[in-house]
Amino acid sequence: MKKVLITGGAGFISHHLIAFLIQNTDWEIISLDRLDYSGNLNRLDDILSQFNDDFKGRVRLVFHDLKAEINPLVKKEIGDVDYILHLAAGSHVDRSIKYPLEFVMDNVVGTCNILNFAKEIHEKNGLERFLYFSTDEVFGPAPIGINYKENDRYNSTNPYSASKAGGEELAVAYENTYSLPIYITHTMNVFGERQHPEKYIPMCIKKIRDGEPVTIHSDTKKKVPGSRHYIHAEDVASAVYFLLTKKIENDINWGNAKCPKFNIVGAEELDNLELAKLIAQYQNKELKFNLVDFHSSRPGHDLRYSLSGDKMKQLGWTPNISVKDRIKQVVDWSLLNSKWIEY
Ligand SMILES: NC(=O)c1ccc[n+]([C@@H]2O[C@H](COP(=O)([O-])OP(=O)(O)OC[C@H]3O[C@@H](n4cnc5c(N)ncnc54)[C@H](O)[C@@H]3O)[C@@H](O)[C@H]2O)c1
Repeated sequence: MKKVLITGGAGFISHHLIAFLIQNTDWEIISLDRLDYSGNLNRLDDILSQFNDDFKGRVRLVFHDLKAEINPLVKKEIGDVDYILHLAAGSHVDRSIKYPLEFVMDNVVGTCNILNFAKEIHEKNGLERFLYFSTDEVFGPAPIGINYKENDRYNSTNPYSASKAGGEELAVAYENTYSLPIYITHTMNVFGERQHPEKYIPMCIKKIRDGEPVTIHSDTKKKVPGSRHYIHAEDVASAVYFLLTKKIENDINWGNAKCPKFNIVGAEELDNLELAKLIAQYQNKELKFNLVDFHSSRPGHDLRYSLSGDKMKQLGWTPNISVKDRIKQVVDWSLLNSKWIEY
């Protein structure tokens, strides 16, 4: 039976990943988390409650803050693993603008600490894969018509994206220096059940339910709303599983990069106004909204991000449920489980 260490297991994306792996593998799963304001063990409890005890017994929790090195006692708690999926990170752009050093500590120093642990495991037993979970934001804003490819240049517009790019570059260095088997993923905006209520989609669902106006980021003329390729967390989990289990041939040209990178992208681009309209339609409610030039008042927020999903498509992976159906699924679920959208 394979063993996988998932960092940030009580976080939003990781808890969906854990549920996916419980359902689709017989792997043992170890979650490492420090449970900060965004980590919530109730997420894991809620999602795992649908499985029987045999399934749930395959998940173990380890408490650790990656700002510190993984000490021998924590190493013993974790044990040997075959895969490490590194998702733990400070993930909130506004907080990174207020506390940049905190993000360097969590996302750069924290990544170095987990890479050192991975190196030790690799030297002892051979690690099958280390996956660094990066973001579309490392490329910065995408002008209309541009979809960044995996090895395009970084262009961080806020400390969050810079710290993710820093962690990403360390991962590249560990593959080149120590031959660690690393993959890097860039994921676009992820949504789903039990997302932190400060994020756009849960916030929109709640405001529309309560008849309140939704604030929508736009350009300076307040005409063009920001847009993203949204993707459901379960689809992200399926892409990660695909990468871990599919034999990817070496004859594919990675642009001479030693450390392969993969964009995990939702199939369809939606602007934030279209998205809010859909959320209102699925609730049979009227949409009240204000377009706000967010970037001028709060630098660091970009109007459009966009990645090309062509490489994953060529390899044989695309999300198998449409983003609109996924949004409906999350709206219906959130109205029935409303404690998760209250803030
Ligand atoms: N949410 C998105 O749309 C999105 C998009 C692209 C990439 N990502 C990346 O995906 C990953 C997960 O994002 P999320 O939205 O699920 O985040 P999240 O904020 O919901 O979860 C992060 C988890 O990491 C833990 N954590 C943070 N710093 C830690 C540290 N120093 N030591 C141990 N645990 C720590 C937190 O307690 C939390 O449980 C992050 O790396 C993020 O950069 C997210």
